[in-house]
Amino acid sequence: MLSLSNFFAGVTFLTAVAAIPLISRASLWPDPEPCTGNCSWIHDPNVIKSATGTYYRFSTSGNIAIATAPSLTGPWSYKGAMLPGGPAIHVADNQDTWAPDVSLIDGTYYAFYAVSYIGYQGSEIGVATSTFLDPGTWTDHGSIGLPKSSSYNLIDPNLFQESGSSPIYFSFGSGWQGVFQSTLNSPPVTASGAAATNLAYNSTVPPGQNFPSVTEGSYQFWWQNGGDKWYYLFFSSGACCNTPPNLAATGDEYKIMVCRSTSQSGPFFDQAGRNCLTQNGGTLILGSHDNVYAPGGQGVMYDSTLGRPVIYYHYVNPTIGYKAEDFLFGFNYLDFSSGWPVIVS
Ligand SMILES: *[C@@H]1O[C@H](CO)[C@@H](O)[C@H](O)[C@H]1NC(C)=O
Ligand SMILES: *[C@@H]1O[C@H](CO)[C@@H](O)[C@H](O)[C@H]1NC(C)=O
Repeated sequence: MLSLSNFFAGVTFLTAVAAIPLISRASLWPDPEPCTGNCSWIHDPNVIKSATGTYYRFSTSGNIAIATAPSLTGPWSYKGAMLPGGPAIHVADNQDTWAPDVSLIDGTYYAFYAVSYIGYQGSEIGVATSTFLDPGTWTDHGSIGLPKSSSYNLIDPNLFQESGSSPIYFSFGSGWQGVFQSTLNSPPVTASGAAATNLAYNSTVPPGQNFPSVTEGSYQFWWQNGGDKWYYLFFSSGACCNTPPNLAATGDEYKIMVCRSTSQSGPFFDQAGRNCLTQNGGTLILGSHDNVYAPGGQGVMYDSTLGRPVIYYHYVNPTIGYKAEDFLFGFNYLDFSSGWPVIVS
């Protein structure tokens, strides 16, 4: 990671000093694919395709914003809030509703969300259901009953079910000891009561910060190449939302990591063989580049229209701004052929 930071610092320096035409900002990563229509005020997006082929994008803001589009590239139209009157859960007067995660199980859509405010550890995770996805069709069931703990924060929900008859795994967590996993009952409106296990943690304390680097926003996904089937744990790492002049040191800002395992419950390892729970493991798959700053809050889906797996996320374009309303929706294609996801055009 250190050498990568130095690499970026070097690139920036060269770009800044000069008109050296041969040094293009050859980036490790392609730009986000095009996005038209409403692509802003996006944090922690979650995209699901309806039975009729419409893409629904859920994101943090205004009690969970719902937008639809005929394709991932748009045009995206804002349709309204998922929970227009706010969630049933009350944790604090200045609470907000965050980080939606929507799954289709047995003909019902389950949308998990977190209720919290920045820096607060007394968060809770709730769930709403709908058979249609559209605003106005959601029934809020309130908290799923995961216990609070000093080891984790109940935010950033992600449901993972490998196939229709598999157990329902559920990961969550941010800050403190990082990402945890438990299981849900079927139907998934309540936690099973199984003890939560720790999946990923980064104990590194970045310069200028007095607590370990944040590990959050987990998203589980499985993929099979030939005989090799892997369970991937994507997560966001670092400082998500700083604004100038208080930006994190280069390399410590938000970025997207991946680890993999032969089991959905870990242990997870990175590409260098480091354990993602005990050895600060995690392979960087998307960091800041070109006009993309601090990408994260990601999800992964197989897009049956395009016939390709994609990763979508939020990011800042520094030429537009760093404010909450400036955050943009981005997505890229993934290539799993090496056994590790790689962002490709
Ligand atoms: C665009 O979507 C955001 C939520 O992501 C919403 O707050 C905003 O009002 C929408 N803008 C328009 C013009 O619909
Ligand atoms: C752990 O945190 C350090 C400091 O911010 C960062 O450089 C590194 O990339 C992080 N690693 C993972 C796996 O998140």
